[in-house]
Amino acid sequence: MHAIDVHLDADELSRALRTDVTTGLTTDPKSLPPKWFYDARGSELFEQITELREYYPTRTERQILTDRAADIARHTRATSLLELGSGYSTKTRLLLDALTATGTLETFVPMDVSPTALTAAADRITADYPGLRVHNVVGDMTRHLKHLPTGGDRLIAFLGGTIGNLVPAERAAFLADVRAVLEPGEHLLLGTDLVKSPSVVVPAYDDASGVTAEFNRNVLRVLNNSLDADFDLEGFAHVALWDPDHEWIEMRLRARWPMRVTIPGVDLVVDFAAGEEVRTEVSAKFRREGVERELAEAGFSLDHWWTDPDGLFALSLSTAVPQG
Ligand code: SAH
Ligand code: AVI
Repeated sequence: MHAIDVHLDADELSRALRTDVTTGLTTDPKSLPPKWFYDARGSELFEQITELREYYPTRTERQILTDRAADIARHTRATSLLELGSGYSTKTRLLLDALTATGTLETFVPMDVSPTALTAAADRITADYPGLRVHNVVGDMTRHLKHLPTGGDRLIAFLGGTIGNLVPAERAAFLADVRAVLEPGEHLLLGTDLVKSPSVVVPAYDDASGVTAEFNRNVLRVLNNSLDADFDLEGFAHVALWDPDHEWIEMRLRARWPMRVTIPGVDLVVDFAAGEEVRTEVSAKFRREGVERELAEAGFSLDHWWTDPDGLFALSLSTAVPQG
């Protein structure tokens, strides 16, 4: 059995979706926040993305974790592992194994906006780690961090490079919130995808088999299912663009022809011109100096910076420092 804290029930989730859709589709240029990709189908599509030949982040981070999990366990001696945007917590097992081997771990607290992924993951982890207390938190990590449990020596893990899905101002606020829930001496393990040639990054977001395109369009399916909208998914092309100024990948959906979409759940009629785009995600890529600076600004000191031999992805371990 595992405990579940729900900070986003169906009503609140639907309220938040309606606010985001109303704002995002009545503002020029149009945009939708990436957290709405992840209904059951979206979470499943993301898992498929992680297996794609072109999508290097997951397997690279897994390799770094395989090499470093024992160091992380020794360094942190965490009694509680809190994971943000945990999804299916697949790679996290490497940390659970290492912290169990060190003998310190008592509690695992995965937090995700997607109840489906969270419940499936917790069921499997509860079965595979007898004796581990699993405490699910259904919540939005940009709003509900203060509800995370306190006590013990905590390690917050934020893997996958998901921090790159926040724009810089959101990132600064988020890291400050993460720091605020920790006590000095507690730790943050952060996965960041690194800046590299667009010839490697772009295919990772525009794979030959079209899984990422399906994932991108899934946000429209979520609007059709939850708000009774009538988006014609065929009418939107998947676009993945490298923005060299921001050093991020931008995913967009481009209207192939003029369309009028009705969204009864928010009482909106939205017109799309042919070629008009909706921004659905940014995925920022990082450099060590930027990560170190953003962490320092939030009140963390960087203890370790680990990358793979090709410098594709980095895992950093930081300590929360006392604040004035
Ligand atoms: N950590 C996993 C999954 C990454 S996919 C990995 O490294 O492979 C991103 C996950 O973050 C999804 O499970 C999604 O539901 C979750 N997520 C996205 N925005 C979120 C938010 N604002 N609050 C909580 N979870 C969020
Ligand atoms: C979850 N996040 C880190 C993924 C990324 O790479 O930005 C989401 C994703 N978008 C397209 N492919 C995968």
